[in-house]
Parts: sequence; C-alpha cells; structure tokens
Amino acid sequence: MPSRRNLIEQTPAYIWGQLAPARERASAYPGGLVDLSVGSPVDPVPEIVRTALAAGANAPGYPSAAARPQLRDAIVGWYQRRRGVDLTEANVVPTNGSKEFISLLPFWLGLGPDDVIVEPRVHYPNYGEGGGLVGARMFASTDPQQWPESASLIWLNSPGNPDGVVNDVGYLRAAVARARQIGALIVQDECYAELGWEGRWRSERIPSILDPRVVGGDFTGVLACYSLSKQSNMAGYRAGFVAGDARVVAGLVNVRKTAGLAVNAPVQSAMIAALGDDEHVREQKARYGRRREILLAALESTRFRVEGSSAGLYLWCTDGADAWDGVDWFAGHGILVSPGHFYGPDAARYVRISLTATDASVQEAARRLGAD
Ligand SMILES: Cc1ncc(COP(=O)(O)O)c(C=O)c1O
Repeated sequence: MPSRRNLIEQTPAYIWGQLAPARERASAYPGGLVDLSVGSPVDPVPEIVRTALAAGANAPGYPSAAARPQLRDAIVGWYQRRRGVDLTEANVVPTNGSKEFISLLPFWLGLGPDDVIVEPRVHYPNYGEGGGLVGARMFASTDPQQWPESASLIWLNSPGNPDGVVNDVGYLRAAVARARQIGALIVQDECYAELGWEGRWRSERIPSILDPRVVGGDFTGVLACYSLSKQSNMAGYRAGFVAGDARVVAGLVNVRKTAGLAVNAPVQSAMIAALGDDEHVREQKARYGRRREILLAALESTRFRVEGSSAGLYLWCTDGADAWDGVDWFAGHGILVSPGHFYGPDAARYVRISLTATDASVQEAARRLGAD
C-alpha cells in the first residue's frame, strides 16, 4: 500500500515555536524583550512604495502571473543596474515573496522521496522545509565536488543566512559546472545581495549566479531568487521574483497561472516603484550598518565572538557552547536570538543575531550586553 502523506496533519510544527520559553524569559527582563531573532523588518515602508500601492488599489481585474510588462521591465532594469546582469522579460517572474517559491519548487519539479536536494552546510531552514513537504532527502554540503550525482535540485544562498558568507565568482562557476554535470537545476537565493559589510564586499558587488562571469550569458538550468522584503521593508507585501533560464521561467509562469499564484496587482505597482528607486535601499543599508556596528562593539565585551558575517542581515556568533545555552544567556539579558540548531547540525554551537530592530532597541540591547 503506498503511504499517503497528509501535509495538513503531518507537517512538523513550525520551528520558531521552539523559542517560546526563551521569549518568555527575555520578556521578563526589566524594560521588556529586545527581539533579535526572526529578522522581520521594523522600519517604515518607503513613502514612494506606499504611494504606488495606494495608486494601484483600483484593481478590479485579475492580475497576470507573468506580471505587468512594466514590472518585468523594472526587474530587468534592476538586474542590469544593481547586479550587472543582462536579462530579457522572458527571464523573470514575480513571486509572493521568495519563501513560497522556495517551499514549492520541489513540488513543482515533481520531486519526492526518491529525490535528493542539496542545500548549504549551514542553511536557511526553508530549503529543507520545502524538501520535507514532498518527502525528498536533503543533502547539506557546500562543496560542489561532494554533491551526489542523484541530486535534482541544488540550493545556494549568498550572502548566506545565517552565516553571512558570500559565494564569489570562482565558487559559483564551479557550482554551476557541477550542477550541469549532474543535470540538476541550481538556484541561488540572493535576497541579501545589497548588504555587503566586510573586506572586498564593502565596495565590490556581491555576485549573482546569473553574472556573465559565472554563466557567460547562458542561463540553462540556472535561476536566482530575490526578495524586496529586506531591502525595501516590504516583507508585509510579499514581493519577490525569480530570474534565469527562460524555459523554466515560462513553466513557472504557467504553473503559477494554473495555481492562482499571481502577485496581486497593487503589490505589482508597489514593486515597480521600489525597483526603480535605489535611494531608499541605500538608506536602509545605512541603518542596518549603524546597528551592526553598535552590536559588534557590544558583543566584544561578551564571551561570544562573531564569525563569517561579512555580508547579510545577521551576526553569527559562538562561545563554543551549545546554542541553546547561548539563547538562554541572551534571554537572561532580555534579548531573543535564534539557536544554530535551526540552521543544521553543523551550526549547533552558534547563535544568530538579527539586525532588524529599531535604533532604540539595538541601543538598549547594547546597554544590556555592556552591563554584564
Ligand atoms: C535566505 C532567505 N531566503 C528567503 C527568505 C524569505 O524571504 P521572503 O520574505 O521574500 O519570503 C528569507 C527570509 O528571511 C531568507 O533569509
């Protein structure tokens, strides 16, 4: 008898619930909780984005899954300007944030228990959650030479959540070559690409997997996914997109049309405005940069040291002990952080600290850490 999987009954409880006891402990601190765990943006949605959303509100007709031509143009223009990648409208499709795409891609590809999905050694949990929805086997390895011949889908993430590691052009070339040798689709999740902080990534552009130095203009079997959640504070809008292989993109448009997953029309208007304006992205990066400096300085007086974190939205720290002890230590200071256990077995001695809190909250977190 084939076993049926009822995902409504069998999907494991969402991992963030595991933080409830630490949340309770941190909330009891005088002055209350400083939440540096999930990484949900707190700064205002830029005025131009809100205006465009409101202006697009009179939208009685169904939106197009392929997106309005102006949005496809805006995505193409943004890739050209900010990522150094030349695309056409046939290479792009918007999504309702990137998480629905990441979770559903294994399903759209028809993967199941006989299939293998590769993810980075230390990884954002959603790659495995999407694999789990179809029962596929996850293989966590950052070394392309270790990726098994049987892999059907390979996830990369640069800058990495949680560790802030950047995949350079040499690495991406090797990764794409291996994926093509295996015959797997390779997708790089690039949603923190504007947030470079250390070393060469202070000034150099963080490379897309679609960069001509990586693929030489041939996008076959290669996709990137991106999100406006962080760079434009649009997490509440659910605004993302996928770019790359035109054949795969055409299939995604068709399946999204079929499943009723078009991005809603007012959000399409808001995305066009957001993608056309680089100034608010610079301002938001500067905010995160200031918060990062304050937290880095405050962590110096603690038993934790920061590793990786040369780009992205998080500080990745360790004191050598189990991450749950670290979560508890921060909770004792009224600060909620996330345990490395969420990001794979190799991350069990790290905690992730998010930069997504108000200036006042970040100052308060620094004060609490310094008062130790
Ligand atoms: C690496 C990574 N990919 C994807 C997402 C999901 O982003 P979205 O808000 O576009 O669904 C996140 C959110 O934190 C993330 O960290």
